[in-house]
Amino acid sequence: MATYVLNGPNLGRLGTRQPDVYGVTSYADLVDLCEQTGEQLGLAVTVRQTDAEHELLGWLHQAADEAAPVVLNPAAWSHYSYAVRDACAMLRAPLLEVHISNIHARESFRHHSVVSAVATGVICGLGVDGYRLALRYVADRLAVGDD
Ligand code: DQA
Repeated sequence: MATYVLNGPNLGRLGTRQPDVYGVTSYADLVDLCEQTGEQLGLAVTVRQTDAEHELLGWLHQAADEAAPVVLNPAAWSHYSYAVRDACAMLRAPLLEVHISNIHARESFRHHSVVSAVATGVICGLGVDGYRLALRYVADRLAVGDD
């Protein structure tokens, strides 16, 4: 079974996008990090990024059909997309919401995520390490047969 790492809008520009906020790790480096972490943990990790909401919805539907775990950084959609939240609510395996920055220490419109209430857990503010920690959680859950 696949474990999906799904990334929303503007995350493809990591490395050059506001490095003071998001760090200097490029999106390509993030893909490598997730794939290598998956290999170490025995997870078949598929990493994707899109700037098109309908594409993310399709990937979430696929994960729901496959009962596959998802690590999701919904990026700006976190804060207002009920469509992304509704798609997340259909998932049948753990959903880990990840934010690179600490959204609670930033502008007030970022303090609320409409996705968090349907996520298994949320990691924010730990930089790209948040993805590694989320994958570790998924591997531990699969190992104990929770999902
Ligand atoms: C983000 C935080 C969001 O507020 C922002 O819109 C992003 C990235 C993060 O990873 O810190 O695009 O999800």
